[in-house]
Amino acid sequence: IKEPLLAPSLLAADFLHLNKAVKLIDESEADWLHMDVMDGRFVPNISFGMMVVEQVGKVLEKPMDVHLMIEEPEKYVTQFAKAGADTITVHYEACPHLHRNIQQIKDLGVKAGVAINPHTPVALLEPVIEDLDLVLVMSVNPGFGGQKFIFETLYKIRQLRQIMQDRNAKALIEVDGGVGLQNAAKIMEAGADVLVAGSSVFGSEDPMETIKKLKSLGNL
Ligand code: DX5
Ligand code: ZN
Repeated sequence: IKEPLLAPSLLAADFLHLNKAVKLIDESEADWLHMDVMDGRFVPNISFGMMVVEQVGKVLEKPMDVHLMIEEPEKYVTQFAKAGADTITVHYEACPHLHRNIQQIKDLGVKAGVAINPHTPVALLEPVIEDLDLVLVMSVNPGFGGQKFIFETLYKIRQLRQIMQDRNAKALIEVDGGVGLQNAAKIMEAGADVLVAGSSVFGSEDPMETIKKLKSLGNL
């Protein structure tokens, strides 16, 4: 199995010391920093918004992977791009005019991703798959860190890989929610490219070491 791109999620970091968390990511083997923006409407929780993303963007050296769990993302993507997002991911379920959302993100010079909730079939992405830089397959219902990985996700990753092969689509497959050392290899085997990890990284005793282990899928 290939080595994953790893995107630790800031949601599980100590919010009083975000600077420390950002430095840790920059000095670690992690590839991107994943930022979870929640609006209390699309998901039943509020995390952080523009101002935090902006401040983190000023110090972060690695690519910033912004996951928007918000309604009407078209109102805010310009600001997130300016704040330093390298990838902006919007939710399929929050976008009745998805082509327009994707084009808007690309016009800002940012990579475009679409996320699907655990119950949303991957086939729904067929009409846009060739336009995407990233597909984010949620492996928990979005809104909170520390939830249990939904096993069904593995089938969805395989299906998506097949669809992408048939269409020669180049998007990266990112998996988010309940990812840790216990399932990382299985998820990669199913066909993922990028793993998001929140509590399994920042909740561990030695986040730096955990990142290293996740990158090597436990084969250190
Ligand atoms: C969930 C977020 C995730 C979350 C993952 O709504 O999109 O990115 O931070 O947290 P863990 O890895 O703890 O499940
Ligand atoms: Zn996320």
